[in-house]
Amino acid sequence: MTKTELYAQLARQLDALLGGERNPIANAANMAALIYQTLPDLNWAGLYLLDGEDLVLGPFQGRPACTRIRVGKGVCGTAAERRETLVVENVHEFPGHIACDAASKSEIVVPIITVPIIAAPIITAERLFGVLDLDSPLPGRFDKEDQAGLEQIVQIFVGVTDLDPAGPIGDLPKEL
Ligand code: SME
Repeated sequence: MTKTELYAQLARQLDALLGGERNPIANAANMAALIYQTLPDLNWAGLYLLDGEDLVLGPFQGRPACTRIRVGKGVCGTAAERRETLVVENVHEFPGHIACDAASKSEIVVPIITVPIIAAPIITAERLFGVLDLDSPLPGRFDKEDQAGLEQIVQIFVGVTDLDPAGPIGDLPKEL
């Protein structure tokens, strides 16, 4: 199976797995587990969620990891600050890389950005929810195809999950 086929299959599986569920923790947990079980050569897959100026550890698969990363620090914090995907072929060459597992050699971090709600009188801005982080024990494990595939996976997650603190539109109090 080619990488393109693998990611197309992963996207279909994620869509089916998340189904009608909109809870962010449940969906993040299943997304991390599905990725970890499906993609080869990973030693960690999970999320860090924005908490003020920090990213805090969210649902993941793999070894226990550092709980807080300042936005702007490490691979995760840099991807969060720039709001762009980072592909790191050799983590030891990335300035400020935070080593949670000495086995990790390469890494990809995809920011998770919410979709703005525009439904008068409710208008919410696009905001950073967190990042999806994958680590590999192989150097150069991730390329542009992984980036495209994982960005699509994150889009599916964002599309079916309630990520805004205002909650789903249907749950907003009547007086709003
Ligand atoms: N290596 C990451 C930290 C998180 S762990 O890889 C799970 C970084 O530099 O941000």
